[in-house]
Amino acid sequence: MSVTPRADNGKVTVPDILSRKLFPGSPATKKITFLTAYDYPTARLLDEAGVDMLLVGDSLGMVVLGYDSTLPVTLDEILHHTRAVRRGTKRALLVADMPFGSFHVSIDESIRNAVRLVKEGGAEAVKIEGGERRLELISRLVEAEIPVMGHVGLTPQSINALGGFHVQGKTAEAAKQLERDAKAVEAAGAFSVVLESVPRDLAAQITRELHIPTLGIGAGPDCDGQVLVFHDLVGLTMGHKPKFARQYVNLSAEISRAAAEFCDDVRNGSFPSDAESYHSPAELREQLLARQRT
Ligand code: KIV
Repeated sequence: MSVTPRADNGKVTVPDILSRKLFPGSPATKKITFLTAYDYPTARLLDEAGVDMLLVGDSLGMVVLGYDSTLPVTLDEILHHTRAVRRGTKRALLVADMPFGSFHVSIDESIRNAVRLVKEGGAEAVKIEGGERRLELISRLVEAEIPVMGHVGLTPQSINALGGFHVQGKTAEAAKQLERDAKAVEAAGAFSVVLESVPRDLAAQITRELHIPTLGIGAGPDCDGQVLVFHDLVGLTMGHKPKFARQYVNLSAEISRAAAEFCDDVRNGSFPSDAESYHSPAELREQLLARQRT
């Protein structure tokens, strides 16, 4: 597959991601960085920090909406959050997850749903869970000019069929199937593939064999890029945190501390202070105008 280099303005594009495949000896040396985002301020911060791709993942259901799996997440919920992330994203490539049920009924309906994510949500690509059995769907979406990211290994939408969240590809037969799944996704025309909860050596082998970038999550350090759920990164995850999820800051502790301090200050009368009060209608008008301007 031939690829063109990154657009001059620094915007990350699908061809740019393809060109970042880390072939041994290739000039592309930087790993791809990929984080989930679900709202405008987070998208702005992550985009401005230089993250290559943002994913409105269906993890939304568990980390933001309080569901106990990703299964209840609807297309409209993903759309709503994709629009918010779109408004905060200038440089990163924006990928939207196709939630459970949105690509299981028929190919036509799946294409219609993916088109909505692009047209109404502003997504530049969609992500689809599943390997070999998604071959036809992925190639039809690619034919419809919708770039597709695959997702194999642990696919949380299959939790009922898998019987829980377990590392995948542990037996020789399961490893072969996972390899077939990754190759099928590539053959169908996907521009990259997420490898979730896969033993390190198997992820490294699949990464060597594919011509599209692999994006690991719980798949060791040898993938072409790394994806992480934002809430795990910043310590906002409420439930179980997998061992691969490195936490860079503890925002839960910071938020709890700030909220408790706010309650104390209001109750003891130190907030709001005189300096935090308006003293004339003119000052109030000026402040409101300044707010509108930003
Ligand atoms: O929904 C999600 O956040 C994901 C990532 C973990 C890849 O699928």
